[in-house]
Amino acid sequence: MISLVAHSFWAPGCQGGRRSMATIISGIKTSKLVRERLKMEVDKMESHFSGFRPSLVVLQVGDRDDSNLYISSKLKAAAEIGIDAKHVRLPRTATQDELLQSIMSVNENPSVHGLIVQLPLDSVSPINTELITNAVSPEKDVDGLSCINAGKLSRGDLNSCFIPCTPSGCMELIRQTGVSVEGKHAVVIGRSKIVGAPMHDLLLWHHATVTSCHSKTADLPEQVGRADILVVGAGRAEMVRGEWVKQGAVVIDCGINYIPDATKKSSKRVIGDVHYTSANQRAGFITPVPGGVGPMTVAMLMENTVQSARRFLLKMNLS
Ligand code: GUN
Repeated sequence: MISLVAHSFWAPGCQGGRRSMATIISGIKTSKLVRERLKMEVDKMESHFSGFRPSLVVLQVGDRDDSNLYISSKLKAAAEIGIDAKHVRLPRTATQDELLQSIMSVNENPSVHGLIVQLPLDSVSPINTELITNAVSPEKDVDGLSCINAGKLSRGDLNSCFIPCTPSGCMELIRQTGVSVEGKHAVVIGRSKIVGAPMHDLLLWHHATVTSCHSKTADLPEQVGRADILVVGAGRAEMVRGEWVKQGAVVIDCGINYIPDATKKSSKRVIGDVHYTSANQRAGFITPVPGGVGPMTVAMLMENTVQSARRFLLKMNLS
């Protein structure tokens, strides 16, 4: 494995002389490596199977600015790799039935290998998100959000399911550190279906002892202090303080929080769920925000789409 983590360095500043800073785990570099590997594989698929390419449909309801931004980076990554990606937009007025019909038509189209419904849904009519994520065929559910894929992951059936993209990207970043997960104490903050819950399962089946923390956890600083590996997907800006972090821990920050910043053209900037400057002085490894988990989420969506195409070729007896 090629390690893409930046080298540690020493910074002056604490009593007694020098204080070590964490090694930064770059999601930009790691995701580039994943995308390059996928491009090589897709090029091979195309030449071996007469122009065959993995294909992905991104279904969007409405017009949220953040969703537009995420979708454009997914489409860009797909184009670079050689994945055929199609963006299907439904208006904010679309009903649940209309969205279900769009999903069914993609489910039944054998030339599409992956389907995601961009969340959150930006709709004026009531739509049950759970019903929608479960309507996606499990074989095309490259977001890994259906009950079938979540159930397989919770039972440790990692080879036959799709693993949600953000936790899968976090595992890849942890792998980059060279720190073995097996036997370690991992703490996950947040229990969302898209980040916290699957992250817990993934760490568990990589043989960590896992503690899940959430909004009702009474002694969060104490729990965090026990973590050899800490993954934070809480959705609260800088809620994890550096003083809580165990010396030398691996800290993975999934947070994307916008705060006002008059010095920026956009008048805002993005920060994580971890207070970076203080955590950097205690962690052994840390992901930055931006440039950590975010780019990995996109790369792992591409990985899942290529994985789905591989399974399709196997089923067709072509590979
Ligand atoms: N919205 C923010 N992140 C994601 C994601 O990973 N998948 C989907 N479908 N929607 C999202």
